[in-house]
Amino acid sequence: MRRSPASARTHPLNADSPQHKLRIETVEIRADAVVLIDQLALPADERYVTCATWRDVAERIRDMTVRGAPAIGVAAAGALALAAREAVFSGGGRAAFDAALSEAAAGLAQTRPTAVNLTWAIAEMRALWQRCDAAPDECWLTLLARAREIHDDDIRRCYAIGAFGAPLFAAGAAILTHCNAGALATAGYGTALGVIRSCHERYGGAVSVFVDETRPWLQGARLTAWELGVEGIEYSVISDNMAGHFISRGEVDGIVVGADRIAANGDTANKIGTYTLSVLAKEHGVPFYVAAPLSTVDLAVAGGADIPIEERDPAEVTHFRGSRVTPAGAHARHPAFDVTPQANISAIITEVDVLRAPYDQALRLACLKGECTT
Ligand code: MRU
Repeated sequence: MRRSPASARTHPLNADSPQHKLRIETVEIRADAVVLIDQLALPADERYVTCATWRDVAERIRDMTVRGAPAIGVAAAGALALAAREAVFSGGGRAAFDAALSEAAAGLAQTRPTAVNLTWAIAEMRALWQRCDAAPDECWLTLLARAREIHDDDIRRCYAIGAFGAPLFAAGAAILTHCNAGALATAGYGTALGVIRSCHERYGGAVSVFVDETRPWLQGARLTAWELGVEGIEYSVISDNMAGHFISRGEVDGIVVGADRIAANGDTANKIGTYTLSVLAKEHGVPFYVAAPLSTVDLAVAGGADIPIEERDPAEVTHFRGSRVTPAGAHARHPAFDVTPQANISAIITEVDVLRAPYDQALRLACLKGECTT
């Protein structure tokens, strides 16, 4: 694996949609590599990591060089195309090709358990290689094309989410967001930040953002603030425990967050701290929106209690950038996600519509128009 220096990239999809300039390229799927913007290095350094094998990509998903549910799915699709390439170049015929892809799919599926987009993207790629009755080299090219399609399609879904979501806010709105559900968490443009970006375009810049810092990994302070800066959108970073203060004083017009998995009844897993925000929003009558593509909807899971919650290394709580902030030996816990009950959600903004309660019906209907996980 090679780390390359910063480069000024122009996104290939900009030609298709000049109205939505994409200035950040999170995942690039090349025939011989998956290139990731290094989210561990941001905001200090904009640099890229080149992954030449599916194992490299799996490691980068695990260590959160690439993170955010849709971005993880896209990276995994690219990783499976790399696994197919590797199998073709090592010879061995169809049985070896299938075995190599199954091994890669199993390895990738274990990297992050909550984000269902990973499962969705792997299932998409698996269906394709199982259907492909051509020689392995042709199947590899089909898989590569599908991985690129999943990438580009994710951006188009984000544009649609932005277009559906922006009218929910008025010009001049102050919007609070948590974690990073932006270009960095998707193939580009973002889900929650896609809505904010779309408000910015619609209202000629008249929108401002409260950015929760998002302890302990600081996706808000490091990544969302960086992205909003790149886009020229006005923002203030707040520590997570300040949100109630600003909400109670009427300074927040609405909250929009992303999602890692939405159960069939609308209960939504997202970055730890999201549930707390939803309770504050309910208490103070502030609208609370979830923005996500349908690939985040898991109809196989009935409710939030059945969503697997990733427990990460407690050292991410006890330490900050390698320095201990607690007494030596302090016990800590680190659930990376929590579940917001559907009753606290004002609407779920998807690429096909803005969904309102009762969510079980709304989600089932929406899934007839798009691709959900089942
Ligand atoms: O642990 P992370 O950084 O991968 O968690 C990301 C989030 O919780 C995002 O809000 C979610 O994936 C939505 S991304 C469009």
